[in-house]
Amino acid sequence: MALKQPGVGIAITGCGSAAPTAFLDNQQLSQIVDTSDEWIATRTGIRQRRLAPPTQSLATLAAQAAQGAIAMAGLSPTDIDLILLATSTPDDLFGTACRVQAELGAARAVAFDLTAACSGFVFGLVTAAQFIHTGVYQNIVLIGADILSRWVDWSDRRTCVLFGDGAGAVVIQANGRDRLLGFELRSDGTQNHYLNLNYQPDPKHLTDDLEIGQGTFQPITMNGQEVYRFAARRVPEVIEKALFRANLSIEDVDWLLLHQANQRILDAVADRLNIPPEKVISNLAKYGNTSAASIPLALDEEVRQGKVQVGDTIVTSGFGAGLTWGAAVFQWGR
Ligand code: ACO
Repeated sequence: MALKQPGVGIAITGCGSAAPTAFLDNQQLSQIVDTSDEWIATRTGIRQRRLAPPTQSLATLAAQAAQGAIAMAGLSPTDIDLILLATSTPDDLFGTACRVQAELGAARAVAFDLTAACSGFVFGLVTAAQFIHTGVYQNIVLIGADILSRWVDWSDRRTCVLFGDGAGAVVIQANGRDRLLGFELRSDGTQNHYLNLNYQPDPKHLTDDLEIGQGTFQPITMNGQEVYRFAARRVPEVIEKALFRANLSIEDVDWLLLHQANQRILDAVADRLNIPPEKVISNLAKYGNTSAASIPLALDEEVRQGKVQVGDTIVTSGFGAGLTWGAAVFQWGR
């Protein structure tokens, strides 16, 4: 807090998104695993998901979303000081943000990945804001992008019905008035085992008495009921905390923009907070759960449809593996 420069606030001035063109609907999915459109739709609200072909890189998907955001903000790639890529599914474990920088031609930008699963966008928003509040950077691109179809067990009907691929991005700029009104971030590693994409090392002898582990990442495992319980309880709490910090009440909120995990979670959180359904942004019927991409992807659709207007107050919350969760309250535009 003490480092915040007087008069240096942030504004979110552009957004963009990208998704693979190929999609798989629930009917098609029921030919892959023992499920039905009725089961998936009533339990999750999901009707279809976009899936990336083998030739699609995460970097290209992320760069497409970023291009839309940079254009909407009226900037060019060389104006960008920092690129933050929130993802759990990089093209390269060393990081993918630098590839995005190269694809954008954002030659001045420093670029790095940030991993916080489905909370990645909210964690990234708060991280980006710190760089601006301290006066270090002026123009930041924050991207949430994930290709979870590469990490789903397509024989596990409890998880494969939930996820899809996509990318969303925003441009965050220094601004006289601070449009980030409040936030709260949380983690609880004691519940890490509820949702994992674990590396499994196989023992390998290098010499007679020296052993290392070389293996592969294993597909997503999830305890759905525990994750549901966690989200329905913790998300309203963290939203209330962020609103308190913003000195706002529920009535001041124009839009509830949650991580698009499951319509039942969206409904439960809105119900608990007394937010009417018409203020709840939802696009998961079309995309499923796109992890770090889901919030900026949904924001971009609402902004481009003219529903979210400059000055609207949005409360957003991400939650997921880690476990991690967080909320931020911001006003759209300068
Ligand atoms: N189709 C048909 N039947 C299914 C399916 C499916 N796709 N998946 C599970 N079932 C069956 C189960 O096998 C079980 O059958 P059984 O009683 O004969 O054993 C039955 O349905 C009930 O299973 P539950 O796991 O208890 O189903 P539940 O009502 O909890 O719904 C769901 C599962 C939708 C995953 C729910 O737990 C949920 O929404 N959890 C939150 C998960 C989530 O959103 N995760 C992502 C958030 S975090 C992040 O974004 C990474």
